[in-house]
Amino acid sequence: MKPLQVNIKNALVNQDELKGYEDRLKAANRRLHSGEDDYTGWVDYPIRYDQNELERILQTAEKIRNQCEVFIVIGIGGSYLGTKAAVEMLNHSFNNLSNLKEEKYPRIFFAGNNISGTYHNELIEKVKEKEISICVISKSGTTTESNIAFSLFKKLLQDKYGDKGSERIYVITDKEKGILREETNEKGYTDFIVPDDIGGRYSVLTPVGLLPIAVFGIDIIEMLKGAGDAYCEYNHSDLSNPCFQYAAVRNILYKRGKLIEVFEAYEPKLRYFAEWIKQLFGESEGKEGKGIFPVYLQFSTDLHSMGQLLQEGNQIFFETVLNVENPDRDIIIPEGSLEVFQGKSMNDINAKAMEGVLLAHLEDGIPNLRIDIPGLSSYYFGQMVYFFEKSCALSGYLLGVNPFDQPGVEKYKKSMRKLIK
Ligand code: PA5
Repeated sequence: MKPLQVNIKNALVNQDELKGYEDRLKAANRRLHSGEDDYTGWVDYPIRYDQNELERILQTAEKIRNQCEVFIVIGIGGSYLGTKAAVEMLNHSFNNLSNLKEEKYPRIFFAGNNISGTYHNELIEKVKEKEISICVISKSGTTTESNIAFSLFKKLLQDKYGDKGSERIYVITDKEKGILREETNEKGYTDFIVPDDIGGRYSVLTPVGLLPIAVFGIDIIEMLKGAGDAYCEYNHSDLSNPCFQYAAVRNILYKRGKLIEVFEAYEPKLRYFAEWIKQLFGESEGKEGKGIFPVYLQFSTDLHSMGQLLQEGNQIFFETVLNVENPDRDIIIPEGSLEVFQGKSMNDINAKAMEGVLLAHLEDGIPNLRIDIPGLSSYYFGQMVYFFEKSCALSGYLLGVNPFDQPGVEKYKKSMRKLIK
């Protein structure tokens, strides 16, 4: 299958500048694959995952599908964004409008990704009469948001199903540490383990994402195949490696004062994939006073609100377009629209919007990268995840930070807990 590609021809970076990065990138690649750094277990995970565990994930997903109408996924940050990204990218956009009873798959709702009493109260109000199963995902098992939401839904299950409620609880957590582990062992919930050597934001292709994603019939075997192919495709150590190019261009632009990377997609299904990317880059690079600030704009929507700032505002950013080459569906524009649109494909017009924006921005000297994604499928989801994870790790090494820790997040967690106490 055609791999995802990076187009840097409009990045306003020349070959000599790129060449200057070759040795550092080779060294970074060796370091990444050597396993000498903690939390690099994700690097070869797609080619070494446990087949028996995968089988157990698929069987559990089937059980959950047969058990519930509503599936609540509880988690925050790296423990939910990957799942949300996959479900939004690969499911029908308007599933919520179809009749629940006729659906093969349960409805998914996310909880514990905020501490809003209104959000959780409204969610419980709407789902409490349905058949419910829940999956709580927390590597540490101590995160405030997921801990609170888990207690709310545990109570709901207990009130609804009594002791049988625990048969509807699925847990993904550390194999030894944390209160969630203790409770899981005590109550005998069905559980899966977050690998020790993989951090939250790099964990979507482990049980953390695979179980909840599989519940929706999304092909996780193809997803792992896409990631496995990406492992091979992006493993070679020369400058034609798209991960090398992307990491180098980001670093060059950052040094030129381009402190913000604006991710842009013309396909709304990519919105949460971009949110996942934001976490990946933000948490991996934002430390020691360094880091490119990742933001996301949905096009053409945000052209009507942010287009002016991009075109003529403070030029401290560069753009990275997530371009879907072959969209799933299309629609022909009928009579009744302006004559110039009639009979044309909506996707063609969307593509022209992308080209038009690029040309206008280039005229004003705005650097632009394009990530060409052949299509929105499970396979390419796996490729995209792997491509961005690897690029981010290389980019972090170039920046001189540890792309696998998050000391700042730990700081806020501690200070919030102190105040709550
Ligand atoms: O990437 C990370 O490490 C974080 O975003 C965590 O995933 C997030 O804070 C949730 O942590 P936990 O899975 O321990 O509940």
